[in-house]
Amino acid sequence: MILVTGATGNVGRNVVRQLLDAGEKVRAITRHPESAGLPDGVEVLPGDLTRPETLPAALRGVEQAFLFPVFGSLDDFLRIGKESGLEQVVLLSSGAVTFPTPNWIGDRHLECERAVEESGLSWTHVRPGMFMANDLAWAAQIAAGDVVRAPYGDAAAAPIDERDIAAVAVRALLDRQAGEAHLIGGPESLTQIERVRILGEAIGRELRFEELPREQAREHMIGQLPPQAVDFMLDGLASAVGRTAEVSPVVEQVTGRPAHTYAQWAAHHADDFRRTPA
Ligand SMILES: NC(=O)c1ccc[n+]([C@@H]2O[C@H](COP(=O)([O-])OP(=O)(O)OC[C@H]3O[C@@H](n4cnc5c(N)ncnc54)[C@H](OP(=O)(O)O)[C@@H]3O)[C@@H](O)[C@H]2O)c1
Repeated sequence: MILVTGATGNVGRNVVRQLLDAGEKVRAITRHPESAGLPDGVEVLPGDLTRPETLPAALRGVEQAFLFPVFGSLDDFLRIGKESGLEQVVLLSSGAVTFPTPNWIGDRHLECERAVEESGLSWTHVRPGMFMANDLAWAAQIAAGDVVRAPYGDAAAAPIDERDIAAVAVRALLDRQAGEAHLIGGPESLTQIERVRILGEAIGRELRFEELPREQAREHMIGQLPPQAVDFMLDGLASAVGRTAEVSPVVEQVTGRPAHTYAQWAAHHADDFRRTPA
């Protein structure tokens, strides 16, 4: 039995789907089983990594787990898992752990990686760069008009499709990989202005990028993320202006098939940009 935590998230939902497609027995935990919308064939149990009392039932009979990094809350999961026969953990981490200077996001994920490594369980870390799914944050603007306002339109990145992040994690589970850390990114360098144009092509509309001043963007983001994380992200965008982002061959190396392009991601999510988000 493979347990998927974070199963309702961008990555976890795809981990569930791909494990089912591979014929595996899958259990998922969520804090909201009634609205999880997970596919038939997966056993869905209530579970919360910050509430250890929910974990023994979730972990019973489980040998392998895809672990979502709820910061500061992995120790109980790892301890209870080990006591009940868990053998392998594939952790969703972040490429930010490899950055040369310490940063809030990388530091939190490093703590998660260390907790997993020190648990005595077999582990693999999946360290993605920027998710293509971050651009779903533009859906409300695109539903409301033809303009996307964001800071640093010329910042380049090589974002990765959540299906590819999941595929690397699933490969690690199916192959029972141990002691691997996969630094994964997308297959092409694109600026935000270019991504907005590609999104427009996917939904059959001409979209335009408009520069949002940093301070306005910061004000908006600060309600959703800790200030250190916001500044780290904005600094990252600022430093990516005028650059070409490094692309990564690792998805193809691990999965045996090419990573999805941004145009493929946009086509897959076209409906998310056509409807008005709830
Ligand atoms: N976005 C990026 O560019 C990027 C890049 C690198 C790394 N990352 C990392 O990737 C992660 C985000 O992944 P994602 O986009 O797939 O997630 P997501 O879509 O934001 O979903 C969050 C998931 O976490 C689960 N969760 C939250 N709190 C929980 C708790 N206390 N106990 C159990 N489950 C809990 C939620 O489950 P329920 O609500 O169903 O309980 C949900 O499935 C973050 O750690 C982020 O730092 C992101």
